[in-house]
Amino acid sequence: MMLSHCFAVFWEALSLKVLLLFLATFILVADYMRQRRPKDFPPGPVPLPFLGNLLHFDIRKPHLSVQKLTEKYGNVVGLQFGNIRGVFVNGLQLVKEALIHQGENFLDRPKIPIIYDHFQTFGLVNSNGMSWKQQRRFALSTLRNFGLGKKSLEERIQEEIKFLTDAIEEEKGQPFDPHYLINNAVSNVICSITFGDRFDYHDSQFQNLLRLLNEAGRMQASIWSQVYNIFPALMKRLPGPYQTSFKNWEHLKSFVRKIIEKHQEDQNPQEARDFIDAYLNEMAKEDASSSFHKENLLQSTLDLFFAGTETTSTTLRWALLYMAIYPEIQGRVQAEIDSVIGQSRQPGIADRDSMPYTNAVIHEVQRISTVLPLNVPRLTTVDTRLAGFHVPKGTILIANLTSVLFDKDEWETPNVFNPDHFLENGQFKKKEAFIPFSAGKRACLGEQMARMELFLFFTALIQKFTFQAPKDVKLSLDSQMSHLLNPKPYHICAFSR
Ligand code: HEM
Ligand SMILES: *[C@@H]1O[C@H](CO)[C@@H](O)[C@H](O)[C@H]1NC(C)=O
Repeated sequence: MMLSHCFAVFWEALSLKVLLLFLATFILVADYMRQRRPKDFPPGPVPLPFLGNLLHFDIRKPHLSVQKLTEKYGNVVGLQFGNIRGVFVNGLQLVKEALIHQGENFLDRPKIPIIYDHFQTFGLVNSNGMSWKQQRRFALSTLRNFGLGKKSLEERIQEEIKFLTDAIEEEKGQPFDPHYLINNAVSNVICSITFGDRFDYHDSQFQNLLRLLNEAGRMQASIWSQVYNIFPALMKRLPGPYQTSFKNWEHLKSFVRKIIEKHQEDQNPQEARDFIDAYLNEMAKEDASSSFHKENLLQSTLDLFFAGTETTSTTLRWALLYMAIYPEIQGRVQAEIDSVIGQSRQPGIADRDSMPYTNAVIHEVQRISTVLPLNVPRLTTVDTRLAGFHVPKGTILIANLTSVLFDKDEWETPNVFNPDHFLENGQFKKKEAFIPFSAGKRACLGEQMARMELFLFFTALIQKFTFQAPKDVKLSLDSQMSHLLNPKPYHICAFSR
């Protein structure tokens, strides 16, 4: 009796152990199969069980972290995160091959859990296929037309610049952090086009929204998102910072939703005042294609807001920093402004062609600050070959823009801030390797608008002010990664000229 009882207990314990062992083996093997490299997949480090290559990736400096891997494996590196498969591509030739020559094969956005769970596939940035095509075509033509005869984009920007220069004037040469003013000003240009209105720099509700936007960006680049991407089903249910992120986006969405409702009440179908009006008109058309609906209106509007604010404003913050650190370059820009525009009128976009030096400085700021170092991820739409490797359908493509913007074969002094990169005999010189907006069919939708904003804002600021480090402060060019490569927060002095 005793014996048989012992035996039973022993047997139970053993079978439990065997069962656990069997389970563990099964999970490991299943995980191995899941993470197995396809034949001819680009080379890369062996993925660890469950974590894949997560530990080969430093979230805080993702643009630098794969450096060792690139040195070891070459210009195309294959990586695996859980069941997500990715390929990193470096250098002008290969990036062009993927984004332009084979652009059609790399056209989609991946379904990344942390992004999908926030936005699904609505809007401009995260949509694919027919819906993306229609949303993008509509947004491009609407932005081009704005403001629909009445007020041009250039005028809207110039109007905002008056507010911005006045606000900076109020600082009276004392050190200030330009972040929120510039962010608000740049955001107002998008707001003017999409909502038909700007927001006052003292509007606390709008300030709060900009803060949420900034926080959302930082969250997207945090370790939490990476963990979320690997265990989405689990993480969705746990309390954690991404719950805040969901709440923040809900807040942003309800803000835009209210503005849309207001438009529905008081719009005049004969005259579209802004992007939302134009979109509502499109929705009302008899033969409106299926992708013009409320969800896409909301998300496309938010996408313009999100994609168009921090990118441009971060670039401008880098520009001021470079001017303060390179006073002789700032002096040459001012000399050009004085001779072409003078002090009595605002810069206009027509001035750009007569201002090669200023134009070169802006390009060089964009090159060296590389605000989106790893582009926005793409996904292969079909099985593809790249540089002789097999890249299966459904693989994420990360085009390393830094590797192009710092390509030793393309730039004389890639690591030095040098406007001469864009000058030849005193004339502005275009460079093929200048691709901060990416390239091909899915390149930045706001490039024209961003280039106009950068020129008008930058030129107007340097026309009115001289930017300098506060007394006894050494400004730093160190960067800090959120979803964008930002300058570290800094204070600066703006002296009226
Ligand atoms: C200096 C400023 C800017 C930079 C450096 C920049 C850069 C980029 C890059 C690298 C992409 C990814 C393209 C790709 O996947 O190949 C992108 C996409 C996008 N950008 Fe910009 N951008 C800037 C300003 C703007 C502005 C002002 C707007 C708003 C009008 C905007 C709207 C968008 C949109 C909607 C997309 C998604 C396009 C798509 O998926 O089809 N961007 N941008
Ligand atoms: C991107 O390119 C830069 C410059 O060549 C390099 O240092 C970095 O390691 C690359 N990053 C990735 C993720 O491939």
